[in-house]
Amino acid sequence: MTSKLIQVSNFSYRYNQETEVALKNINFEVAAGEFVALIGANGSGKSTLCNALVGLIPNYFVGFSEGDIIVDEKDTASVNVGELSQTIGLVFQNPFNQLSYTADSVAEELAYGLGNRGVPRDQMFSKIKEIAGLIQIDELLDKNPLELSGGQVQRVALASAIILEPKILVLDECTTQLDPMGSKQIMDIIKKLNENGITIVMVDHDMERVAELADKVYVLQHGSIVLGGTPEEVFCSPHLAEYSVDPPDYYEITKKFIKPGYSKRDFALTESQAIALLQEVVLYEDRNQEPQA
Ligand SMILES: Nc1ncnc2c1ncn2[C@@H]1O[C@H](COP(=O)(O)OP(=O)(O)OP(=O)(O)O)[C@@H](O)[C@H]1O
Ligand SMILES: [Mg+2]
Repeated sequence: MTSKLIQVSNFSYRYNQETEVALKNINFEVAAGEFVALIGANGSGKSTLCNALVGLIPNYFVGFSEGDIIVDEKDTASVNVGELSQTIGLVFQNPFNQLSYTADSVAEELAYGLGNRGVPRDQMFSKIKEIAGLIQIDELLDKNPLELSGGQVQRVALASAIILEPKILVLDECTTQLDPMGSKQIMDIIKKLNENGITIVMVDHDMERVAELADKVYVLQHGSIVLGGTPEEVFCSPHLAEYSVDPPDYYEITKKFIKPGYSKRDFALTESQAIALLQEVVLYEDRNQEPQA
């Protein structure tokens, strides 16, 4: 028995036609209930790692892998991917790849995965209604998936993963097609799912969001994990720039303007931390004290 829901040990992978490895000796663990963010430059291996976590690598992609990925005590290399999908679900970076497009309506598309699970039809209907309400796609249920906009496809793709109620959700840049308000709405839902016990592994380029949501952050570069820890440990690392990652904007701004001595911390990573920090500074100045060196 292990308390870790995901255990990646010395995992490497090379796509068949490539000379360079896409993942190089990856080691990390995810505990049940954790919110993990994977970040790194374009081409650093984030999507490849997502595909490996859900067993598409090595079971569907042609290539060469080494090492082990154990998800909920199942070896992803030997377990059936369909069976594994009951434990871990992936929302693809390209949402158009998520849908089967064999269904005539969004409702049927959502029913597809439930049907494969043997969920009875009457339960299917209430489940689809519930998820459609949550993701705000009620008005899309009767539409043909081929008629949807990019943002709508992305919502349906997310709904099709969430409806299967996996223990772990892997989200590969799942809001790229949405406007800021739509993205915020989806992130609030993901945060709620995590608070309700779903383990999240999220690939994201929005560092404010990562700092806000993640318990742990892993930085990939050229297929290796080069840095990992809490958002604070990762974003305050002096090596961050070497890995082509910028900290959240709040970090740069507060580092520049908050004088040492005004507060216990001289930086913020998130909006709420920045507001709290500014309040401390204002209070300090109100008291008209000189900052301690
Ligand atoms: N299906 C594939 N076949 C061959 N090579 C691939 C394939 N998918 C990715 N690669 C290569 O593997 C490396 C890692 O790519 P990957 O897509 O995992 O990076 P990423 O961090 O997700 O990038 P991005 O931020 O652009 O999504 C890159 O060199 C890429 O060209
Ligand atoms: Mg990617």
